[in-house]
Amino acid sequence: MILAIETSCDETCAAVMDDDGRLLSSVVASQSAEHVAFGGVVPEIASRRHLELVDPTVRAALAEAGIGFGDVTRVAVTAGPGLIGALLVGVGYAKGLAAALGVPLIPVDHLAGHVASLQLADHPPVGAHLVLLASGGHTLLLDVDNGVTTLARSLDDAAGEAFDKGARLLGLGYPGGPALAALAADGDPDARPFTTPLAGRDDLAFSFSGLKTALATAVGTAEPADLAAAYQEAIVRHLADRARLGLAATGRTTLGLVGGVAANERLRAALADLPAELVLAPLAYCGDNAAMIAAAARTASAPDDWLALDAYARSPLG
Ligand code: KG4
Ligand code: ZN
Repeated sequence: MILAIETSCDETCAAVMDDDGRLLSSVVASQSAEHVAFGGVVPEIASRRHLELVDPTVRAALAEAGIGFGDVTRVAVTAGPGLIGALLVGVGYAKGLAAALGVPLIPVDHLAGHVASLQLADHPPVGAHLVLLASGGHTLLLDVDNGVTTLARSLDDAAGEAFDKGARLLGLGYPGGPALAALAADGDPDARPFTTPLAGRDDLAFSFSGLKTALATAVGTAEPADLAAAYQEAIVRHLADRARLGLAATGRTTLGLVGGVAANERLRAALADLPAELVLAPLAYCGDNAAMIAAAARTASAPDDWLALDAYARSPLG
């Protein structure tokens, strides 16, 4: 029985998965209400809130799974990347718990966790596949075979960051992605279109900062809903373009979509038109959660020196 813990950003999460990969519980305690007034995540507030929430969240996950601490045979925890103070709360708690229970501790990379969220889909990918990971901190095209290879990353902002910054420019709340998508639903994406980033180029890379500048310039010249729709459409076209290039370059026939931005309906629809079998992370596991950390830990093993485990801010994948 794996108990997984995730505290890399502003969500305190715990999940229980049995040894056959059946998810028994997944609890997400969101702090977004605490960060709203600041228009983004305040690291020090996040760390303090994780300290308060981590133990009750773990206990809630155990209770929901109908097990006790004594039934846990492995503990898994997100070791990075993320806010270092936030990560340290989860890593410290997990180390103490594993030592007290006398069970091994498995460190999980947060990005590998997002990739593993595909295992929670009704029909997980079989064999080698590409993964588009679009979150608040990363935009990556990954080739997943026996290991994970990064094919493309962002030269500047992440896709989720582009949604969040765009939402701020349009005077919408935080987190910006869902707010911008909701406004875009009432707009016409062709009324005041934006150029697709890196259009006509075949480099495997993402870039969103030019789009953000274009939106900043356009604010006030058109209806906010039309701007939101056009901005979302340009982000989606760019993500779909790079995924199409990646599929052509590798010959892979399966594409997975994961990360917070994977919840975006327009993106899910656009990727369905690509020449690949599309596997979507279930909506409940697009944003940060511990179920995906448990799924990643299932196939990993604990290092001998797990008591020396440290949190890290940057991922080898990112
Ligand atoms: O994966 P995630 O929960 O956290 C990170 O690891 O970063 O991703 C959060 C990001 C935020 O930028 C948020 O605005 C974005 O995902 N997001 C969305 C949607 N829901 C969340 N972006 C676009 N459309 C959505 N529906
Ligand atoms: Zn994430």
